[in-house]
Amino acid sequence: MKTLVYGSLNIDHVYRLPHFLRPGETLPSEKYSRGSGGKGLNQAIALARAGMDTWFAGGLGQDGLFLKEALEGDNVNTSLLKMADVPTGHAIICVNDEGENAILLYGGANQTVTEEDILRTLDACAPGDAVLLQNEINLVPEIILRAKERGLTVVLNPSPASPDMANWPLHMVDWLILNEVEGFDLTGQRDPDAIADALLIRCPAMHVVLTLGPEGSLYADATSRLRQQAMPVDAVDTTAAGDTFTGYLMQGIFSGMKPAEALRRASCGAAMAVERPGASASIPARAEVEKRLAQWTEGN
Ligand code: RIB
Repeated sequence: MKTLVYGSLNIDHVYRLPHFLRPGETLPSEKYSRGSGGKGLNQAIALARAGMDTWFAGGLGQDGLFLKEALEGDNVNTSLLKMADVPTGHAIICVNDEGENAILLYGGANQTVTEEDILRTLDACAPGDAVLLQNEINLVPEIILRAKERGLTVVLNPSPASPDMANWPLHMVDWLILNEVEGFDLTGQRDPDAIADALLIRCPAMHVVLTLGPEGSLYADATSRLRQQAMPVDAVDTTAAGDTFTGYLMQGIFSGMKPAEALRRASCGAAMAVERPGASASIPARAEVEKRLAQWTEGN
């Protein structure tokens, strides 16, 4: 099977700052870099590095051709990418001394998906394939509906959260991977177990994975629930940690791992991404993750 990531590509402009800007403040940046990012691109690269046959669909402007090359450099199939007549999406990412980030997004070509694009793109998939979505492109609910009609497994990372998400056809989503903020927006609950309960009442067939930052993660379905601790690391930059988690988790699940094993490996990959600066540049290779996972397991 293959996984089609239908998602965003961003040119990431990353600034290191001692603290996040306050209203009216002007602050010189200590360091600047430009790199490849976007939740779609990052998750595609994480899936591919984990070992998945990964395809990518989305919109790109002429100024972002290096993002296509980045995907291809990780063996992601880009034949479904659409060149748009608008600038590529971009992100202004501020990283503070604690390694936390604050991100400003400009959608650009990420927001040019049409209904015709969706039908044509999904023609490349067969029943049993999976589609992985985030919330940085337009028409996500339409993609969920069309993908489900065709017998695809639908995985949704509803990030970043938006007010309309609660009205999306979530009952058609097989795997929902979200953080507590997105969980609150979807359910009105703050407690992780209460978020999972509310989602499973609404969508009993769903697999819910809640990421809890340094508190680890929670997996829940209709009959089972488990917790995974986070691997302790010194945080350099949390950007793309969630994307790394999602890619490694779903490649593990699709290759036949049980949720507990896939969750642990995804937690290890995500923690490694936190130790490194950048978005896609911080995503570890499979061999590195497996080595570190063995060390973590020995130490516990
Ligand atoms: O999840 C990290 C990503 O969010 C960055 O690469 C940035 O482009 C934003 O989409």
